[in-house]
Order: sequence, then structure tokens, then C-alpha cells
Amino acid sequence: MEATARAHTNIALIKYWGKRDEKLFLPMNSSLSITLDRFYTTTKVAFDSALKADVFFLNGKPAIDAETTKISRFMDKIRAFAGEKRYAYIESQNEVPIAAGLASSASGMAALAAAAVKALGIEVDGRTLSILARQGSGSACRSIYGGFVEWQKGEKADGSDSHAVPLLSEDDWDLSILSCLVESKQKKVSSREGMKRTVSTSPFYKAWLETVETDLAAAKSAIAARDFTMLGRVLEANALKMHATTISANPPFLYWQSATLDVMQEVALLRERGIEAYFTIDAGPNVKVLCERKDEETVYHALSAIPSVREVLVCHPGPGIQYGPF
Ligand code: ADP
Ligand code: DP6
Ligand code: CO
Repeated sequence: MEATARAHTNIALIKYWGKRDEKLFLPMNSSLSITLDRFYTTTKVAFDSALKADVFFLNGKPAIDAETTKISRFMDKIRAFAGEKRYAYIESQNEVPIAAGLASSASGMAALAAAAVKALGIEVDGRTLSILARQGSGSACRSIYGGFVEWQKGEKADGSDSHAVPLLSEDDWDLSILSCLVESKQKKVSSREGMKRTVSTSPFYKAWLETVETDLAAAKSAIAARDFTMLGRVLEANALKMHATTISANPPFLYWQSATLDVMQEVALLRERGIEAYFTIDAGPNVKVLCERKDEETVYHALSAIPSVREVLVCHPGPGIQYGPF
């Protein structure tokens, strides 16, 4: 009645931004990501009939009540799926830099879903696991698979066709993703809260929805053709478009800090020098820069030299869900 699973985080190239159903975590649009080799979560789940509630340990310490409640609500969905009554002891370790704002909800909820289902001895396919993980955090549904992954938004009201599908495995196209941790002052608006406000108040949200499926189609063609220029152009434009919807929300909010712009400008300078690099930004100030493996060293040194960049962490496409022992 116990199992351990590991899931890696993912970075969206075409963003999931906005829910059509908040309870089921159904997105307004399909999205596309790369699973990363460097950042991951390892979670152990043990069901125990003696427990009166779920117990959640994060990075070796009991989690705060709000976190335990969030996890427990997700566990309720897994229990409902499995027809299980018992509570569980959950122990999770995040291998991501502390407070870096790197999507830990994706690896965290994917690892938890996988470990819980495995602990209950249920055999599930990737699609079912993706649907379960989605209901913990939308982006988590993509962390079930390695490499390049599409989350198809689906059409059905019950969410049974809203799940990830693998496009290319981590060995099929070896790009470099340089994660730039920057100096930052303000507190962030969570992606959950941010996308909600944007959907209900931004006049640009309609334009986002009108163009995102075209961006996705372009990104998929670029991936199929291993066309880095085409992929880079669309992923950068898609990220900027997402951030345009936050600046135009009411009240408006901006995830960028001055250091975020420093990185964006350095990427533009690299391209002027003929080195192909493109950036993307999620719900925080850090910037992820994509380049081809042959340019990794050059791009790494250019980004590391920016005074407001604290650290550059080099990632590559990583694997899908894995089961312990580790
Ligand atoms: P946000 O989605 O708010 O932009 P993140 O993607 O970093 O930011 O998600 C942070 C949330 O993810 C945490 O508040 C917590 O609820 C969840 N989370 C982080 N690590 C884990 C974990 N190891 N297991 C389960 N949930 C986790
Ligand atoms: C900007 O998956 O963290 O990173 O579904 O509410 O848990 P919830 O949100 P989350 O949102 C991710 C938003 C994003 C874009 C993306 O990963 O596609
Ligand atoms: Co998240």
C-alpha cells in the first residue's frame, strides 16, 4: 500500500492560460511543453487505515496547513477515482532551486498522482494518469510524458478527453533550455489567480484565444520538421502575447522585473550576433532561454555575464513519469 514516483517539471512553449472549468481544471486552449531533465519531484505515498487525515511532508518538514489542505483535496479526487477510503502519509522532495518560482506544481502533482495510484495497486495508462494529474494542477498533466508534449484541451464537459499526448521523446531532439534565475523584489501572483483574473477582465484575452491554436499548429510543424528558427519565433511570440493579457487585466499585473528585461534584451543581442536563442517566461520573473546544443556554451556565458542574473541552470529535455525505488 505504498509507492514512490518521480516526475519532472515542464516548461510551456505554447502556454496554458485560462480555465473553462476551474473544478475539473479544463483549459480554454491546448498547450505544448518540454519536460526538463534537471528539475523534479520525488513523492512517496502510503495509505494507512489508522490515519484520520492525510499527512503531508514537503522537503523533510510537515507542510503548512494550507498546503496540506490543497494536497488533501487532490487526494480526495484520487480516492473517488479508486473507490478508496483510507487517508495517506505523503512524503515529497522537490529537486528544484528553493523559491525560484519554477513550476513545482507540475512535477509535484504529477508525482503525487502517479505514486498514489501505484500505491493502490491500480494499473493505469498514460492518458488516465494525465487526466488525474490535471486535476491537481493543469500543467501537471504534461509532466506524465518526457520530451515534447501537447496537452489537448478536449471538448467534453467531464474532461475525459483533456489530457497530454507525447509528440517527441526526450532523445528525439536535444535542445538546450537555460533557466535564468534573476534578482526579484515583488511577490508573485500565482498562475492560478493570474489566469483567472485575465480571463474575466482582460480585453486582450479574446485575441489570445483567437490566435493560440494557430501558434500551436506552427509549433507542432516546427517540432516535426526539427525547425528551430520556426519554433523559436512562435514560442517567444506566444509568451509575449500571454503576458500582454496580464498587463491588460483589471487590476493589471506584470510578472516581469527589470532583470527579466535584461535577459530579454541579451537574447535579442545574441540573435543580432547570429546566434539563435529565444526566450519564454511563465508566471514569475525568471526567464527560460532556448537554443540549439551547439550554441549552449556561448549562450550560457552571455546570460551568466548579466549582472542581475543570479544563476543560469542548463536543462535538456527530460523523461516522463518514473517509479521507485530510486
Ligand atoms: P504557481 O502555479 O502558483 O505559479 P508553482 O507552479 O510553483 O506556482 O506551484 C506551487 C504550488 O505547487 C505549491 O503551492 C504547492 O501547492 C504545489 N507543490 C509544490 N511542490 C509540490 C509537491 N512536491 N507536491 C505537491 N504539490 C506541490
Ligand atoms: C504560465 O498549471 O500552475 O506556467 O492549473 O491553476 O495549477 P493551475 O496552474 P498551473 O499554470 C501554469 C501556467 C503557466 C503556463 C503553462 O505552464 O502552460
Ligand atoms: Co504551476
